[in-house]
Amino acid sequence: MPGYVFGHSAQELERLMFQAQVLAPITSRLISLMGITPGMRVLDLGCGAGDVSMLVAQAVGESGSVIGIDLDADTVALAQYRAQLARLPQIQFQACAIDAYTSAEGFDAVIGRYIMLHQADPQTFLHKAASLLRPGGVLGLHEIAIQAPMLESHPEVPLWQQAGTWLFEALNAGARSPGAAGCMLGHLAEAGLPSPEQFCERPIGGGADALFYRWAAEAVRTLMPHLIRLGVLDDGVVPLNTLEHRLRKATVQARAQLLGPTQVCAWVRL
Ligand SMILES: C[S@@+](CC[C@H](N)C(=O)[O-])C[C@H]1O[C@@H](n2cnc3c(N)ncnc32)[C@H](O)[C@@H]1O
Repeated sequence: MPGYVFGHSAQELERLMFQAQVLAPITSRLISLMGITPGMRVLDLGCGAGDVSMLVAQAVGESGSVIGIDLDADTVALAQYRAQLARLPQIQFQACAIDAYTSAEGFDAVIGRYIMLHQADPQTFLHKAASLLRPGGVLGLHEIAIQAPMLESHPEVPLWQQAGTWLFEALNAGARSPGAAGCMLGHLAEAGLPSPEQFCERPIGGGADALFYRWAAEAVRTLMPHLIRLGVLDDGVVPLNTLEHRLRKATVQARAQLLGPTQVCAWVRL
């Protein structure tokens, strides 16, 4: 069974923080729709560098509290440092695996972004997440759909679409549950949870200033060892240092409109 496909290198943590800028408007919408309001106590599963926890902290205010948990102790230390810099004392982070986490008191809300796809068994994960809620609490998930084509462009920019194929190949093989976003409703039903409310959207954009080029290039860079291991690419075939620049140049020259990966958000109230 594959481990956590992205790893926790310094470069990967930087990538997560940059990716968070692209995803923030979508996650913020989920936070609002799932009804996270001032004073609530919220748990962030697989918090990474703390970006979702920080969005939630703004929603719950100083009268609320957020706990972010992640497998990796260095990642958690970075998240704690960032929360201090952002003057968000209502967040605490803890290095802990989701299946080992316990709390004497149920949470008003449990949230996770890009986390279910990395779990071996979505049903077990959802059971655990729901068990951490108080009666009437709400569970919200923001997942990325691992389905081809992950990236599109109009008119077609071959390098952009190629990058989408690489990302699809690496994540489809490397994520433990790559179909998680596409089967959200079914997984929740199998876990004995109510039907969710849902929305999905795709980031869209183009032009010289779009965040897309760096987002895609950094993801390809992190996943390159897996692409080589899978035999999709040979070492050194893709000049990674210039990939962002080449994506930007080709897109701007073609005046292309880019579509990013589909984002699926779902929430259920117990
Ligand atoms: C793709 S990152 C997403 C981080 C963050 N949620 C975000 O959107 O910026 C997934 C994170 O989940 C953590 N993770 C994966 N499986 C986990 C588990 N079973 N228990 C705790 N953390 C986990 C990884 O260490 C990683 O930091």
